[in-house]
Amino acid sequence: MLETTLDWKRIAELNQDPALQSAGNAMRWAAESGLKLALASSFSAEDTTLIHLLAQEVQRDSSAAERIHVFYLETGRLHEETLQTLEECRKRYPALRFEGYFPQRESVENLIREQGLFSFYDSIENRKNCCFIRKVEPLKRALEGLDGWITGLRQSQAVTRANLPVFQIDSDHGGILKLSPLSSWQEADVYKYIEENGVPVNPLHSRGYPSIGCAPCTRAVEAGEDVRAGRWWWENPEHKECGLHASGDKS
Ligand code: ADX
Ligand code: SF4
Repeated sequence: MLETTLDWKRIAELNQDPALQSAGNAMRWAAESGLKLALASSFSAEDTTLIHLLAQEVQRDSSAAERIHVFYLETGRLHEETLQTLEECRKRYPALRFEGYFPQRESVENLIREQGLFSFYDSIENRKNCCFIRKVEPLKRALEGLDGWITGLRQSQAVTRANLPVFQIDSDHGGILKLSPLSSWQEADVYKYIEENGVPVNPLHSRGYPSIGCAPCTRAVEAGEDVRAGRWWWENPEHKECGLHASGDKS
């Protein structure tokens, strides 16, 4: 069904449809909605799972690739393994379009000139400033002109995500749709899907990185530690969001 108005009422209806709680059905809905969408990928296991689901829709109907592309925020500080996973996906899914968004050159040059290359360790303010320059501002550009975006967010990743619905209106980005098909998946569901479907997987995951971020701000976690414990590990848990998903995940 082609979607014309995505207001709060329609979003509530979509969230109440039990069939759309399934990730495959939610991706099918996205492909058939006629909306201009993009899948935001950090090349984590969640995101390559979504890329695989999207590729299946494009295989069914190649015109879906014109309406839905994949984008990644190339912060300039990503792990080599993440870039390799990107290239693996590009080769594996040639029908999909992968678009990189880089930070504004002048903003990065000024940041480095004034604060050096590791200013994020000095204060939360500096860290948020770096995230703003390298992620939040490029995300705004990536979302320009779109009806919505698709993310790999899951409820069980963080307390701040516990009430995350599959369908949301993203008031941080002009009221567009934010679709999180894996919302109710557990980490084990993601790896089961990857295993069963031969989905490309970022090699960092098997080295103790459950969450993929920028290299200097992400480290491996110990068994039993929180999945986001390795992200900005020097900060208190309540600060551990970079601004990509500022206020919209609480339902
Ligand atoms: S973050 O806010 O802490 O960085 P997280 O790493 O959990 O977010 O990722 C959640 C979702 O945000 C991913 O599944 C993906 O949809 C999107 N995302 C995160 N980082 C990027 C990135 N570098 N490029 C594009 N999308 C990203
Ligand atoms: Fe900068 Fe670290 Fe944020 Fe990446 S995660 S944008 S390196 S502060």
